[in-house]
Amino acid sequence: MNWKGKTAIVTGASGGIGSAVCEKLASLQMNQVITGRKMDVLEKLSAKACGLGAEVMACAGDVTDSAFRKSLVQNAVERFGSLDVVINCAGIAQNQHFEEVTEEDYDRIMNLNAKAPYFLCQTALPELRKSSCATIINITSVVAHKGYPFQSAYAASKHALAGFSKSLANEVYKENIRVHLISPGGVYTPMVALARPDLTPDMVSLPEDIANIAAFYLEMRDANAIVDEIQVHRSGKEPFA
Ligand SMILES: NC(=O)c1ccc[n+]([C@@H]2O[C@H](COP(=O)([O-])OP(=O)(O)OC[C@H]3O[C@@H](n4cnc5c(N)ncnc54)[C@H](OP(=O)(O)O)[C@@H]3O)[C@@H](O)[C@H]2O)c1
Repeated sequence: MNWKGKTAIVTGASGGIGSAVCEKLASLQMNQVITGRKMDVLEKLSAKACGLGAEVMACAGDVTDSAFRKSLVQNAVERFGSLDVVINCAGIAQNQHFEEVTEEDYDRIMNLNAKAPYFLCQTALPELRKSSCATIINITSVVAHKGYPFQSAYAASKHALAGFSKSLANEVYKENIRVHLISPGGVYTPMVALARPDLTPDMVSLPEDIANIAAFYLEMRDANAIVDEIQVHRSGKEPFA
């Protein structure tokens, strides 16, 4: 389908995967509201995306803040006239022994990785209902399915993200609203460089790979065949593990 002129909100756009997603949507000539906390990074990305023919509005802020989330939806509608796609990329990971995770750590991770996308989807739904191609893509992780050691809070947050996404998908599919998950293993971004400095770019997926999967969901939007989730592992990892 032709996505030119459709509008997306992309959270975490100042990060590795989110910026690749933004560029991919720009190549489809989609309007975008992009977010992250670093305005300078968002502005550079916005200029690049505009160079590809997209219209992009950079909104810096904390996506755990409900007023900020509301402003993202409002900005999309006021600037571009509609909201068709929400891509939740913003996230944080923390490698910590279970007993060292404080309540503050837990809340910070859950608030960003699970609660913020939950309520951004809720805020966006009334506008998505007006779209003929409403699509939500939530970036979970391989840890939404596994229990790697030292990632208990991150795993809890990604299980929560996957869990509510599945429920939401079942609540809204009869209204022609699609909810998809992408569950990557290691992707070469600042996050993985911090968490797994032993992994080099040739051993992991690239942000562009994940952006291509997001674009695949969009390409399939009008098809009768629907893919709910795509799990991705890095090339160095054993298949079906
Ligand atoms: N990289 C991987 O190996 C991997 C694997 C599986 C899943 N994932 C998931 O993919 C998503 C993107 O990860 P990434 O690797 O691209 O990470 P990244 O490069 O570290 O980017 C994280 C993004 O989240 C934003 N963010 C963090 N806290 C925020 C807050 N309070 N409010 C608004 N934005 C906030 C950051 O914005 P600022 O930098 O501007 O603060 C940044 O844009 C995450 O959900 C992650 O869990 C990543």
